[in-house]
Formats: sequence, structure tokens, C-alpha cells
Amino acid sequence: MADKVPSIRLNSGYDMPMLGLGTYNSFRPNEVGEAVKAAIQMGYRQIDTAWIYQTEPEIGVAIKELIKERKIKREELFIVTKIWGHCHEPDQVEPACRRSLEALDMDYIDLYLIHFPVAFVDKERTKATMTDYLDTWRAMEKLVDKGLVRSIGVSNFNAQQLERILNMDGLKYKPANNQVEITPYLAQDDLLQFSLKNDISTTGYGPFGAPGQVYIPKDAPKFLEHPTIVDIGKKYGKSSAQVILRWGIQRGYALVPKSTNPSRLAQNMDIFDFELSEDDMKAMLALDKGYRVNHEQFLPWKDHPFYPFEK
Ligand code: A2P
Repeated sequence: MADKVPSIRLNSGYDMPMLGLGTYNSFRPNEVGEAVKAAIQMGYRQIDTAWIYQTEPEIGVAIKELIKERKIKREELFIVTKIWGHCHEPDQVEPACRRSLEALDMDYIDLYLIHFPVAFVDKERTKATMTDYLDTWRAMEKLVDKGLVRSIGVSNFNAQQLERILNMDGLKYKPANNQVEITPYLAQDDLLQFSLKNDISTTGYGPFGAPGQVYIPKDAPKFLEHPTIVDIGKKYGKSSAQVILRWGIQRGYALVPKSTNPSRLAQNMDIFDFELSEDDMKAMLALDKGYRVNHEQFLPWKDHPFYPFEK
């Protein structure tokens, strides 16, 4: 199954599998480890985590067990993790990366992302600081040179912020990836086109609108039940979840849907044997409303100069 997942060649020269497993959730103990094991054994190769998700240690143990059982080799996997905003000061970047490496029990990270452009005084985000993500970026570049990470990128950045990095003095490595929310109501077409033009890959998180997440408003749209998406799926014998994922693959970005359920993990993988027609691609894009599901948690910083989202 694994060889069916296409990859994106990053500007760093490494290949990133276009389908990965997202691991942010309010997990019960061992739940994420079991999901990672099931996912890898059914062909997932990208695992997406972050220091702040607190899932790195369990993911590390699960992968180590699979490696020990000779079910997978480290070099076959693509591990993504993210630095949190309380470590944006340049002298904090390498220690933060080393903490993630230690938690994952790995020698290198495939892709290390700045999680959010705004820096915070502490992990609880009680107060923002003015630390500039350009200074953080220079420290991220050093991680590549030290061999701690293979590729570096960002998450939740807008096009102007990407451009600011691209135009910075003495830039050594362009961001290889920007991971942002992409859903049927937030197609992010301008950002996607900007990134494609500048050879920055995109990953879409929360593709189903993160149903069940604690911070998601109760009245958030239910994309998986959206009649247009359900109807498109019927034409191909696929579920709405599969249509949403396939729409992303055909638009050229990677996706990291979350699931801890083996049959849904398998379903989310089973998207490489059909192709949405041009009309169906357009019908999906027409659903876009610029509606963001994942922003309430960041609203306290909406007046910060580095706040990335529309207000
Ligand atoms: P579960 O873990 O029980 O499968 P997102 O990736 O947008 O954050 O959405 C994750 C949520 O969507 C999880 O609650 C997950 O529940 C659910 N989910 C994942 N895949 C599917 C699917 N194929 N069909 C229905 N629900 C899904």
C-alpha cells in the first residue's frame, strides 16, 4: 500500500509523503501509540506531531517497537514536529529541537516547523513577546547544518510572512513547507498558489474540520456530512472524508488527517485509486467561504503584528 502514496519533492531535496497521520488530540494513554503502529503497518509513512501536542514520547516508543520488530526502518519514515512559541529566542531553538529528538528517541527530524509565528513567554501562552520569527529562522537553519533536522519550515504562516523569510538578508534555506488549516470552507487557494510559485510545499491540517476537538466551536460546520461532498463521493463509491482528502492530493498539497480508528485509518489511505473530475474539483473549490475552524485559541493575539490570520 505504501508505494501508492505519492510524495512531494521538497526544496531541500527530500521527499515528503503526501498523506500523513496527524496526532493532535485529547488522547487516552497508549491511544496515539496504537494509532501510529496501525497506521505505519498499513502504509502511512509521514507522522505529524509537535512538542506542544505532548505526543512525541508515545510516538517515539511506538516507532521504536516497530523498528525492533523489523516492521519498518527509521529511514522509511518521515517525521514532522514543531517548535513551540516559548522557544523562539535563537538560543532556545537548538535546546528545543534536542528535547523533541530526545522525546522521539531519534537522531534526526525529517521536517521541523515553527508552529506559529507569534512567540510566547511560556508554553501556556500567557503573554506574547516581540521575538521576530526571522531570528528564529536563522537558528532553525543551523539545525540543518548540524544534521539535527533534514528540512525546516513553518506552520500557520501567511503569504506575507513567507515572503518576509524569502527576502531576508543572508537566507540560507528557504522554508520547505508551510502547514496550515485547509478545509472545504478554507481552500487557501491564494496561499497555495503563492507557495507553489515559490517552491514551498504546503500541508493541510484538520481537513475534516477537526470534529470532536475541544476548542472547536459547537456550531462548526460538519464537512463530513456536507451534502455536496457526500454526493460527489457517491459518484465514485467513496466517503466524504475520501473526497476531501483526494481534493487536496489533486490540488498538490500533503494532508495529515487524524484518526485512531483502524478502519478509518485505512479508509483515509484508500484515496489513490480514483480521480475527481475537473467539475467535481471546481464544485469543491466553490464551497470556500474563507471560514476558519481553528483560530479561536489564537484570538488573544489578534492585535500582535505577527498574528497570521485575517481578523
Ligand atoms: P476517529 O479517530 O474516531 O476516526 P481532523 O483530521 O480534521 O482533525 O479530523 C479528525 C477527526 O475526524 C477525528 O475525530 C476522527 O475520529 C475523525 N475521522 C477521521 N477519519 C475519518 C473518516 N474517514 N470518517 C469519519 N470520521 C473520521
